[in-house]
Amino acid sequence: MDKRIFLSPPHMGGNELEYIEEVFASNYIAPLGAFVDRFEEAVCDFAATPHAAALSSGTAAIHLALRIAGVGTGDKVLASTFTFIGSVAPILYQNAEPIFVDSDESWNADPKLVEEAIVKEKPKAFILTHLYGQSAKITEIAEICQAHNVILIEDAAESLGATFEGKHTGTFGDFGIYSFNGNKIITTSGGGMLVSEDAEAIEYAKKLATQAREPALWYEHGEIGYNYRMSNVLAAIGVGQMEVLPKRVEKKRQIFTWYRDLLSDVDEVSWMPEIPGSLGNRWLTTLTLQNSEPLKIVEALAAEKIESRHLWKPMHRQPLFDGATYYGAGVSDTLFAHGLCLPSGTAMEYEDVARVTETIRSVIC
Ligand SMILES: Cc1ncc(COP(=O)(O)O)c(C=O)c1O
Repeated sequence: MDKRIFLSPPHMGGNELEYIEEVFASNYIAPLGAFVDRFEEAVCDFAATPHAAALSSGTAAIHLALRIAGVGTGDKVLASTFTFIGSVAPILYQNAEPIFVDSDESWNADPKLVEEAIVKEKPKAFILTHLYGQSAKITEIAEICQAHNVILIEDAAESLGATFEGKHTGTFGDFGIYSFNGNKIITTSGGGMLVSEDAEAIEYAKKLATQAREPALWYEHGEIGYNYRMSNVLAAIGVGQMEVLPKRVEKKRQIFTWYRDLLSDVDEVSWMPEIPGSLGNRWLTTLTLQNSEPLKIVEALAAEKIESRHLWKPMHRQPLFDGATYYGAGVSDTLFAHGLCLPSGTAMEYEDVARVTETIRSVIC
């Protein structure tokens, strides 16, 4: 019986349990503790960014970035439409108005549309997603945001380890966020990180993430906060995972190469591009099909106990965002209609990838 192949399951590095035992021995099970500091330092060292706050999720990190950016009721926030709901739901938490911007041939946000939307809408902030682990045209977009005084929040939830001209995604804007959700390139079972060059902003994020508690001996609160900090137990998993992150990036890229090579003779298939100057983490190998129905492949793979997924349904097509302003000409609609995410777990072997491609061939060839 063939084993089940998941989309992107957790893959422990080996030291996580030992670190959790250290946490237990110290009894700093919760809330904070030395591993939270160590995890933040490890991410800062890796991504070459000075300040970080470990949080309960990537969504929480985006919410805090918006709060600190001063986004409130009625403010406009620009966002990539081709993304996951966690990227944009925090706009609604702040009673702000989302304005969606479509992708170009890179699948990520189109800088021309970004500029057009910024000039017309004058948003306070832009949440830019680096999709499926591939860098957006980040230097161009950062320049546009700077020129128009728009706060840039990079949603690098899927792209930890991806770089543009050698600099890590998540470190170009005013804020960057990473996710350690169970299916990400590394995981803490659930968690996120907010990073910034602004030390005060990160200090403020840590305060807001602990119910906005004032530094008093009793419980003093002058503003609304949240319970968003990461626990020391989960941070211990994160420290173990950071040790293997470079290996995970390498393996994700290897899996992509296996897929591409195994299907190189199939004209029907195109891959998500890697823009010049960038090095993606290929979190998920993603493709589009010229004529075939993605659903047929999803179903055929499921019958073989292989998990796959449609590409993200664009946010401007979600009932939740009915009537929202949108800049674009349907690129993400086309991607959604024709695209697919293939299993990309870092424990996959060549034979597993070949099993997936054989099933794909049986549907489209
Ligand atoms: C693009 C994107 N943004 C935001 C998030 C939210 O992260 P989290 O699940 O840690 O809240 C995710 C993933 O889950 C994501 O893929």
